[in-house]
Amino acid sequence: MPKIYNGDLTKMFDISGKKAMIFGGAGGFGKAIAEGYAANGCSVCISSRREEALKEACADIEKVAAPGVKVMYLAGDAGDEAFVKHCVDVVTGPEGLGGCDILVNAQGINKKMFSHDIDTDFFEKMLHTNITSLMLTCKYFGIWMKNNNLEGQEFVPVEAGQPNTNKGYGKIINFGSVRGIRAVANGGGGNVPYNTTKGAVEMLTKAFAADLRPNVQVNAIGPTITYTPMMVGILPPDENVRNGIAGSLPAQRIGYEIDVVGPAIFLASAASDMVTATTIYPDGGLVATS
Ligand SMILES: NC(=O)c1ccc[n+]([C@@H]2O[C@H](COP(=O)([O-])OP(=O)(O)OC[C@H]3O[C@@H](n4cnc5c(N)ncnc54)[C@H](OP(=O)(O)O)[C@@H]3O)[C@@H](O)[C@H]2O)c1
Repeated sequence: MPKIYNGDLTKMFDISGKKAMIFGGAGGFGKAIAEGYAANGCSVCISSRREEALKEACADIEKVAAPGVKVMYLAGDAGDEAFVKHCVDVVTGPEGLGGCDILVNAQGINKKMFSHDIDTDFFEKMLHTNITSLMLTCKYFGIWMKNNNLEGQEFVPVEAGQPNTNKGYGKIINFGSVRGIRAVANGGGGNVPYNTTKGAVEMLTKAFAADLRPNVQVNAIGPTITYTPMMVGILPPDENVRNGIAGSLPAQRIGYEIDVVGPAIFLASAASDMVTATTIYPDGGLVATS
């Protein structure tokens, strides 16, 4: 029987009672999504490396959280396999959220390096953070969702070499970028490393969607250029000057953190059950017009 939403239409985007793990959850996009989820009744665990930033983000998220929502954090490196396994254990256990329905991968780093000047060590660091860490979290949280969110069905043991046929359900949302499918005509100040990693996110997302089918949906969000902490020092400090960069685009502005929250709620809810292996671009029309 295919999975088809046939519930109350006013609840189609309802994520109340859900449990979300958000890597990069103290950052610009990750925190905005954590606030949006928590305000809509979804408990959240945010994660990144700096504990102080996580504590501050949790305090902000708690201010907007709906009653009964749990907000917690786990500090560590999403590129560390042991840490990711630890996150699964804690988040799904009684000390954590008691399960996981939604995984958001909003961790990432960026450094501009022109072709003649690419630092191999930093290139590999970008690959590790922007791609390998997504592989680890999709793997461990994806398998957990597949094996545990069984919607009342019996768990079918997985035999070596055979596909995992358990029903499972879950929503995985990876952060790509418009730069995953569009290079900047003038090189974008040295964008080969970043373009490369974000291009890989596109295919990692599609391949995990094909692998975790049919009941775990895996999608990406590909935002346009946005003045998050990642872009401080890369973009001009003046808001009007920044928006002027996008003056020729349909939206006539660059992005704001809130622009990804609607897509992230859609991709976390039953409204997107038939949406998988794709990317939503809250990009103000950049991809279509450049
Ligand atoms: N801003 C843009 O213009 C833009 C556009 C398109 C796509 N994106 C993508 O959107 C995602 C979020 O970026 P953002 O703009 O919100 O940047 P941000 O504010 O810098 O947030 C990134 C977060 O990732 C965390 N992080 C970095 N390395 C990590 C690691 N190894 N393990 C765990 N956490 C790590 C950072 O915290 P710690 O340093 O404390 O670990 C931070 O919380 C990224 O994938 C980025 O590439 C951004």
